[in-house]
Amino acid sequence: MKVVEKIDNVRKEVKKIKESGKSIGLVPTMGCLHYGHLSLIKTSTSECAFTVVSIFVNPSQFNDPDDYKKYPRDIKRDIELLKKEKVDLVFAPSVEEMYKEKASTYVEVKGLSDILEGKFRPGHFRGVCTVVCKLFNIVQPDRAYFGWKDAQQLIIIRKMVSDLDIPVEVKGCPTVREKDGLAASSRNVFIGDKRKESLSLYKALKRIEEMILKEGIRDTSVLLKEGKGIITKYQGIELQYLEIVNMEDLTPVKKIEGKVLVLGAIKLPSVRLIDNIIIDA
Ligand code: PAF
Repeated sequence: MKVVEKIDNVRKEVKKIKESGKSIGLVPTMGCLHYGHLSLIKTSTSECAFTVVSIFVNPSQFNDPDDYKKYPRDIKRDIELLKKEKVDLVFAPSVEEMYKEKASTYVEVKGLSDILEGKFRPGHFRGVCTVVCKLFNIVQPDRAYFGWKDAQQLIIIRKMVSDLDIPVEVKGCPTVREKDGLAASSRNVFIGDKRKESLSLYKALKRIEEMILKEGIRDTSVLLKEGKGIITKYQGIELQYLEIVNMEDLTPVKKIEGKVLVLGAIKLPSVRLIDNIIIDA
């Protein structure tokens, strides 16, 4: 497994692989790898001849500089994990390597980026799209793997790829959960003694699922009232949003029909968490 920091060196490796006709899979990450990342990587290594994992804590997607500073980093541990997964190439650039001093070009998916997460993290998806577009240009993968845990991100990246005719297949992989149901996330290291509170969002999502699938309730206002009630019962949690939306354009759904995405965000004193489930009624 090679670990490279320079864009030119990735290009050299990619050129060789393309000439040999092998397929390339890319798993973009911000490091501090967990089971969720490992499942994306396993999918890539099983579907592609050559797997590239990028590790880059992307400053342009953090609207809060403190959050960027605090974001967990452990590159040594990450590299050891990636060796075990038989990853072919790790791209771990510096900020200076990824963003030239006078860079002034951004990629923005309007509309989809301004709602839900976008409302609470202005500029976040512009940063995500810009860096993912750059990674696609550098690595030129046949397939790229993203988790459904970040459902809005995945939907926005698919839209960007379609709008800009980027020749990559964007694959969405299921959310990986811990035994108690908590979605795997690098930020879980900050939960500390607030485990019970951190699970409130997942409990609300599961209750909504039960109401739709077992009790046949279709009115979203009834479903959301119950879900929000579960979360706000806990002390010290700020419920930022809980919504039921259409899978394609993330617009709110009034009456459940077919597939819907139920997604939300909560803020605990030490960490902000997001989660979602897809329900097929
Ligand atoms: O999901 C993430 O970890 C990041 O948003 C991504 C896709 C690696 C872009 O920085």
